Amino acid sequence: MYSLKEQEAIIARAICNLKFVKEPAGLYEPLEYMMSIGGKRIRPRLCLAAYNLYSDDIGDNIISPALALEIFHNFTLLHDDIMDRADTRRGQLTVCKKWGDNVAILSGDVMCILAYKWLTACPADKQPQVLELFTKMGAEVCEGQQYDMEFETQPVVTGEEYINMIGLKTAALLACSVKMGAVIANAPEAQAEALYNFGWQIGLAFQISDDYLDTFGDPHVFGKKIGGDIMCGKKTWLLVEALKRASGESRKRLNEILAMGDDRAEEKIAAMQQLYIDLGVKQDAVKAIEEYHEKAMECLSGNGFTPEQLDILKEFSASLVHRED
Ligand code: IPE
Ligand code: IPE
Ligand code: MG
Ligand code: MG
Ligand code: MG
Repeated sequence: MYSLKEQEAIIARAICNLKFVKEPAGLYEPLEYMMSIGGKRIRPRLCLAAYNLYSDDIGDNIISPALALEIFHNFTLLHDDIMDRADTRRGQLTVCKKWGDNVAILSGDVMCILAYKWLTACPADKQPQVLELFTKMGAEVCEGQQYDMEFETQPVVTGEEYINMIGLKTAALLACSVKMGAVIANAPEAQAEALYNFGWQIGLAFQISDDYLDTFGDPHVFGKKIGGDIMCGKKTWLLVEALKRASGESRKRLNEILAMGDDRAEEKIAAMQQLYIDLGVKQDAVKAIEEYHEKAMECLSGNGFTPEQLDILKEFSASLVHRED
């Protein structure tokens, strides 16, 4: 088995060697840009880690599908940044900011399509299962993104609705990534399923972390503008909890803050940060992230994984708990 560091290096090298068509440059340059400005590459790394639990034979059969996951992820970001009116990502300008919304739409479209080109490099006998897994995930991401948008204007969102939404928009892709690696490696079905559930729980934790960092992260490390979710009225873990907890004076304050317009962005963000602290929502978000990571590990128990396999998965999960980017 390779170490997680070695796996990360394998993925980084493969992404570095990626070649997209060059013409028309207006269509493909944003792809090159997006793939080259970094990111954590969590999804292909999860896919490779799951595969490597069963096989050391790392070739195009697994690298290409792993890259498909990263290409697909970047497609979702191109469109997400239009929907979320985001200016910065990975410490750089977003594609929609740099080239405009129309370019981000079309370059995103071609990325989504090209993801399938890389995906079908998986072993022929695995293709039907891999395609089914991938297309189901793709539709789920769109469903989650639709809920995410609808929730912006919905006055109240329950904790359950929130978890369902982030499950679809974020956890589905992480779960698909882990399971795909296992499927391609010919893992026992029950273990592939357990890995899917593990990926789903990690995905929930991952999105709650993202929500947390969007409000409390260090912009230089996080690479996105802090307070973007607050300005969009996103129903993040923090806001859903705050809406549940606030009453009397704090409820009045919360409504005042929510009513502040774009012209008072700085004041609005600072006030919301303070309210989240006062309501205990900030510290409880950290606890929730830890809880979902524990749930992720619980999904694995009783499925016959070896201690060595469990150690790697635990190490992967732990590396995400206190992430800052
Ligand atoms: C951002 O994903 C979108 C979410 C699902 C939160 P990442 O945090 O994995 O973004 P990169 O690829 O590392 O930039
Ligand atoms: C990301 O949710 C979900 C998808 C891109 C599918 P966010 O909107 O929170 O992601 P960031 O914060 O822009 O990366
Ligand atoms: Mg979004
Ligand atoms: Mg966004
Ligand atoms: Mg976010």
